[in-house]
Amino acid sequence: MTNSETKATLSFSDGSPSIEMPIYKGSIGPDVIDIRKLYGATGKFTYDPGFMSTAACNSSITYIDGDKGELLYRGYPIEQLAQNGGDFLESCYLLLNGELPNAEQKEKFVETVTKHTMVHEQMQFFFRGFRRDAHPMSVLVGTVGALASFYHDSLDINDAHHREVSAIRLIAKMPTLVAMAYKYSIGQPFVYPRNDLSYSANFMYMMFSNPCEPYKVNEVLVRALDRILVLHADHEQNASTSTVRLAGSSGANPFACIAAGIACLWGPAHGGANEAALSMLEEIGSVDNIAHFIEQVKDKNSGVKLMGFGHRVYKNYDPRAKLMRETCYEVLNELGLQDDPLFKLAMALEKIALEDEYFVSRKLYPNVDFYSGIVQRALGIPTALFTGIFALARTVGWVAQWKEMISDPEQKIGRPRQLFVGSPKRDVPAMDKR
Ligand code: SDX
Repeated sequence: MTNSETKATLSFSDGSPSIEMPIYKGSIGPDVIDIRKLYGATGKFTYDPGFMSTAACNSSITYIDGDKGELLYRGYPIEQLAQNGGDFLESCYLLLNGELPNAEQKEKFVETVTKHTMVHEQMQFFFRGFRRDAHPMSVLVGTVGALASFYHDSLDINDAHHREVSAIRLIAKMPTLVAMAYKYSIGQPFVYPRNDLSYSANFMYMMFSNPCEPYKVNEVLVRALDRILVLHADHEQNASTSTVRLAGSSGANPFACIAAGIACLWGPAHGGANEAALSMLEEIGSVDNIAHFIEQVKDKNSGVKLMGFGHRVYKNYDPRAKLMRETCYEVLNELGLQDDPLFKLAMALEKIALEDEYFVSRKLYPNVDFYSGIVQRALGIPTALFTGIFALARTVGWVAQWKEMISDPEQKIGRPRQLFVGSPKRDVPAMDKR
């Protein structure tokens, strides 16, 4: 970032002395006002619940232009990466290293990731402690955190090699753990990874093969899953990425930080929205019920939200939602499900919402979660696992952002302040005086 000539001057109506603060320009996107000296100079904090106007860091990984509906991974538009930028591991290499790999770099990266897909054999005992119907995100929070107990050789966050090894281990092992969570939930044996399959094909194999019969990889479905992973790989400083950065700022090991990110992603306002959006479509049931549902959404007292719609940053169509809808078509056509009622219902709901003043005035558009549930359901992925797939994809983004933060000379432990509105100091009364 570069310091700009213009500065911000903050003046006070109560006659307190005004202060000047530097403004920094990024390569693209909004400038920032450096307020780090504000408290020291004025004894005042800024107040920004939900960080609506606060940049918590500088980053060169992902950029979103919410008004244009633009998403760039290291400068490359998501449309190009999803359609002709190669597969998910190429996007992983890009997010981690800043450039797309050439053929030799890609081959080496794929080989390295492939060789780390197995988990320690004792990991299976952690699964045994869960109920079979445990939500997969509870299993992933537990098992990803538990990885730290096996990899004492890569926990020194100040060692660049340790950081690199941990990054590869996390990217490589997430598909194995997600597939194990699924197999455990249906009482089938865990399936070991296969090194002769691509990353996404291997995941589908570990999810859907069983020891009793050969498994045939469907390349159309594998490509669809791979695109879902590319679309979910990173997304600036969203809630779960900010959680990973905050955990990492204390020096916590990368496995603990990613477990924290998984916990945050679980929420229905964030990564849990794909599961909630599909449940919403199933609850609406038919096009005839859309009008009544929309009325409920508009009634603030109902607490009903249009899941898969709206976004803190996108005030235009989420570019990932467009690509996800295309993937929907491809998968449903491949499976002969063109008339899938939920997909037709989703498109009807989207059309009505995009023409309704309530949503238009609030700039509420479909986000990545609106269609992803339909695609994943068509791929045979159970609803409860949708957010686990999101976590699988986002692990590379979390890890890339975590690595960037650790290497940032400006980084300090994250410790927000507050506006205190509680009781001033008072004395403890004796019991008979309470
Ligand atoms: C993800 O940050 C990221 O980048 C996240 C993500 C990523 O890749 O990491 O993109 C992934 O989390 C996508 C978002 C998935 N969540 C959902 O689909 C859940 C439904 N969406 C809403 O909960 C909401 O839109 C949020 C949480 C996504 C955004 O919330 P904001 O920015 O705080 O929006 P807001 O609450 O300020 O809404 C502004 C207005 C409000 O109405 P008014 O008070 O102005 O009258 O829009 C309304 C809201 O009530 N509104 C909705 C709505 N979302 C916002 N009304 C109905 N349905 C919705 N979905």
